[in-house]
Amino acid sequence: MGLLELIPKVHNEERQGEAFIPFENDPNQYIKKFYIESYGCQMNFADSEVVASILGREGYGATRNYEDADLVLLNTCSIRDKAEQTVRKRLADFKRIKNNRPGLLIGVLGCMAERLKTKLLEEEKLVDLVVGPDAYRSLPGLIEEAGSGQKGVNVLLSREETYADISPVRLESNGVSAFISIMRGCNNMCSFCVVPFTRGRERSRNAHSIIAEAQDLFDRGFKEVILLGQNVDSYYWIDEEQDETVTFAKLLEKVALVDPGLRVRFSTSHPKDITDEVLFTMAKYENICKHIHLPVQSGNTRILQLMNRTYTREWYMAKVNRIREIMPGCGITSDVISGFCTETEEDHQDTLSMMEFARYDLSYMYFYSERPGTLAERRYTDDVPEEVKKRRLQEIVDLQYQLSLRSNREDLGKTFKVLIEGESKKKSDDWMARTTHNKVIVFAKGNTAYKKGDYVNVKVHECTKATLLGEIVS
Ligand code: SAM
Ligand code: SF4
Ligand code: F3S
Repeated sequence: MGLLELIPKVHNEERQGEAFIPFENDPNQYIKKFYIESYGCQMNFADSEVVASILGREGYGATRNYEDADLVLLNTCSIRDKAEQTVRKRLADFKRIKNNRPGLLIGVLGCMAERLKTKLLEEEKLVDLVVGPDAYRSLPGLIEEAGSGQKGVNVLLSREETYADISPVRLESNGVSAFISIMRGCNNMCSFCVVPFTRGRERSRNAHSIIAEAQDLFDRGFKEVILLGQNVDSYYWIDEEQDETVTFAKLLEKVALVDPGLRVRFSTSHPKDITDEVLFTMAKYENICKHIHLPVQSGNTRILQLMNRTYTREWYMAKVNRIREIMPGCGITSDVISGFCTETEEDHQDTLSMMEFARYDLSYMYFYSERPGTLAERRYTDDVPEEVKKRRLQEIVDLQYQLSLRSNREDLGKTFKVLIEGESKKKSDDWMARTTHNKVIVFAKGNTAYKKGDYVNVKVHECTKATLLGEIVS
């Protein structure tokens, strides 16, 4: 079997359209094979890599082809109803497959496992295993139980688990860029959001293990790490041996110091928590990418209050100004929700004007989907009709397209140091790379000897709303 056939299928609402990249391990050395599909945010994708490592120790290798697999896992997302419906359809497909292959084990991991607990197993009889985000260490035992016909369930949330000692198996790696989870859970209670219930309390990972992972990746040829957390700016870890408090700014600096040739990115920043110290650290180190994902959710103060975001429109604007003051040209991207409870046409206009103000390079845009158990579900009425939510979302999307195009046009004629991630999906004669601002740039390979993972200076001469087009300059 060729390596390409081992590529897992991924479904990522947050990162639609990204390339599938081969597993790094040779599955033929393994006794058993597992197939994993990941849904949802980058943290879930990073978790699948932890799961692959735990299963690897038990003799399981990853396969892209579920027909070869002894174990099928779906690492699921509950963020919107649509995300759960997609998984349910997929589980029904696998249940049909299992009817012809009774020995096949099917497991649900991640946020849907945590939210629905034993429901998928007992009431709907769709799966053999249900394992929540903090229980992956128990997978081997649970697989054994499920294999002998018992129920394999563990949805206990933990206050300590960070999987700090587990070296992730890079499932979709392009060999250039890798995720590092720096914390888990979330202590914010945004009223629309299910994450605090599916991921539990916030906890930060041991900083030494983060630095060691970054160093190891760099030693293995990786050129970029993406530090992940639902709210990275509230990272906080006390190094008792060194008597040092490690804030996110300090952590960023420590990772940046691993090597100037290692780019550092991070996601996500909650506007209330990102500090000047973080901004100055970003400005100080060339290898910390000048891009901040700063989800606004809404541009209206009343709606922000109902969302429990704990900042106002003016406060958010001041934060954007501060970022631009300290790092002129810093890329800013966002998440936006249309049609939250009680949102009026004027409130919606505030969101559009906020987008204009912040000049986002890119946004992830959604219409509000009520989630069971959240504060909003308990306190407010989901009273904006679906067609209104969708129409407002379309206006948000249309505006974002204009803003993205405008932002890309501002780059025409400029030269950027970019990191080559691989060949362009459309044309093998072209490289695909990323600027420090996280913009995708495509350019001809020409007769140069550059390769994946190299830095190269590229001058922009054309653009679309999604991509910069350029040429190599010496
Ligand atoms: N922790 C990040 C933050 O605070 O922005 C990201 C959280 S979530 C994984 C990603 C995005 O999904 C959110 O920023 C929000 O825009 C969106 N989202 C969360 N719950 C939603 C809901 N109930 N309906 C629609 N969109 C939602
Ligand atoms: Fe959800 Fe808010 Fe936490 Fe983000 S910060 S994960 S939106 S509760
Ligand atoms: Fe989804 Fe859970 Fe991430 S709900 S967005 S997979 S934290």
